[in-house]
Parts: sequence; C-alpha cells; structure tokens
Amino acid sequence: MANYMLEANDVIRQFKQYDSVITAVDRCSLKVEDGEFVAIIGASGSGKSTLLHVLAGLDRPQGGSVYIRGQNITAMSPDELGVFRGNYLGIVFQKHNLIPQLTALENILIPTVMCDKKDHTFQEHLKKLILALKIGNRLSHLPSELSGGQQQRVAIARALINRPQVLFADEPTGNLDRKNADEVLELLLELKKMIGQTLIMVTHDMSIADKADKIYMMDNGKLFLYKDKQGYYKTSYELEMKAALESERAKPLE
Ligand SMILES: Nc1ncnc2c1ncn2[C@@H]1O[C@H](COP(=O)(O)OP(=O)(O)O)[C@@H](O)[C@H]1O
Ligand SMILES: [Mg+2]
Repeated sequence: MANYMLEANDVIRQFKQYDSVITAVDRCSLKVEDGEFVAIIGASGSGKSTLLHVLAGLDRPQGGSVYIRGQNITAMSPDELGVFRGNYLGIVFQKHNLIPQLTALENILIPTVMCDKKDHTFQEHLKKLILALKIGNRLSHLPSELSGGQQQRVAIARALINRPQVLFADEPTGNLDRKNADEVLELLLELKKMIGQTLIMVTHDMSIADKADKIYMMDNGKLFLYKDKQGYYKTSYELEMKAALESERAKPLE
C-alpha cells in the first residue's frame, strides 16, 4: 500500500431510486503514484463525480477500499477523515462553492482555520498562490463581485492553501468559456509543477487529458485504463483482448 499515493480497490457506490438501484461506481480500482497526473474522462452520467467524491473521502462506498498515503480512508471515523482531508487532500469542483458572505481571502483561508494552522506556516505559500493565480487585487471582494474565472482561481487557492498531497478536480473549468478555461487549466498545471502534488482530474477536455500521465475512462460505472505511457487502449474490449493474449502467453507449454 505504501508504494502508492492513492490505491482504490473494487469500489462500489450505489444509489437507491424508488425500488431500483443505480450502480454509479461498479467495482472500480486504480493506483496512482506520488506526483502523477491522472485524468478521468467519460460520458455524462457515467459515474465520474461519484467516483471522485469517494476517492476524495467526501462520500462513502458500499464496497471496496480507498487508501491514501497508505491509510485506509474508508475505515476512518468522520472526525478522523475530516482531519485527514484538511491536511492532505484538496478538491476543486465545477461550481466554485465559495461562501458568498466571505471575501476571496477569507474563503482561501478556510482550510487553515479548520486545521488550526498558525499564520507563519502558510504566509509564504499564500503569497505564491496569490501571485501565480493573479488574484492579488481581488482579495477583499466577495465572490459575487468576481468573474467566473476569478472565482475558480480563488477556489483553486483555497484547495491548495494547506499544500495537499492530492488535489482532486471535478471538471474544474466546465462552467467557463474557452479562454478562461484554458487559462485556469494552465495555472492548475503550473501549480502542480510548483507544489508537486498528485492530481486527479475529471475532464471532458481531451486536450487537457492528453497532458496527463494516465487517462482512465468511465463507462456506465466501470473504470478502464484508456492511455498510459505505452499508449492508447481504445475500448474495454481491446483491454480484455490484451488480457486474454497475455494469459495465453503465460500458460506453460505441455
Ligand atoms: N445522490 C444521488 N442520488 C441518486 N443518484 C445519483 C446520485 N448521484 C449520482 N447519481 C446517479 O449516478 C450516476 C452517475 O452520476 P455522476 O457520478 O454524477 O456522473 P458523471 O459525473 O459522470 O456525470 C447517474 O446515473 C446519476 O444519476
Ligand atoms: Mg460529474
């Protein structure tokens, strides 16, 4: 377990709807190394957000396990999980989810307050984030006084203020126009270089996914490796064929 930053095994998340059950995440497994950038693509409704929420400890699975830094987050109590998330995990949503009554700066500092961080431990980092995200002249504004791109940049600063080891992002530019989306994604990747954190991003944008070390595809609750350093695996069928060929080769000769 300790070799991977994140390791998920056979994760299942189902929702009851009247008398039927939707299996949004159907025995999904993945391993992510420290510092890796993993993209998750797939059609709307295929289960990407549900999986990301389970991986980030925002939601609990009915089956399977999620280990982060070698610790089983699915076995943690709500309090333990809260502390763990505050210290090691960050998340950026499609909608910025900023608190409307707080200024940009107050929003950014929420995780430091929750984790009781002393000012001097994050001031330098805060300055770097503000500079990189170009939000220095917007800090005293309320979210409603910011453009969509600025709101999302504030949300990114908030997600990164505690220097998380894993940043989760769920279509972080889905609500932005092309120009703002490109700018925000460039910044996210620049910050990834600066902080060196692991990045797991749900995106429908193939030009972004192509920059990832690995691409997974979600299809009807199932997760498939779609691209890695070896290249593309276009379909689950192709993956099954590959597995079958490998198992053929592995058979001893008689
Ligand atoms: N809280 C919920 N209650 C019931 N069904 C849900 C809930 N969240 C997600 N679903 C269902 O799970 C499936 C996957 O949804 P989601 O993870 O949001 O997909 P994606 O992010 O890929 O668009 C969908 O069929 C969706 O309707
Ligand atoms: Mg989604």
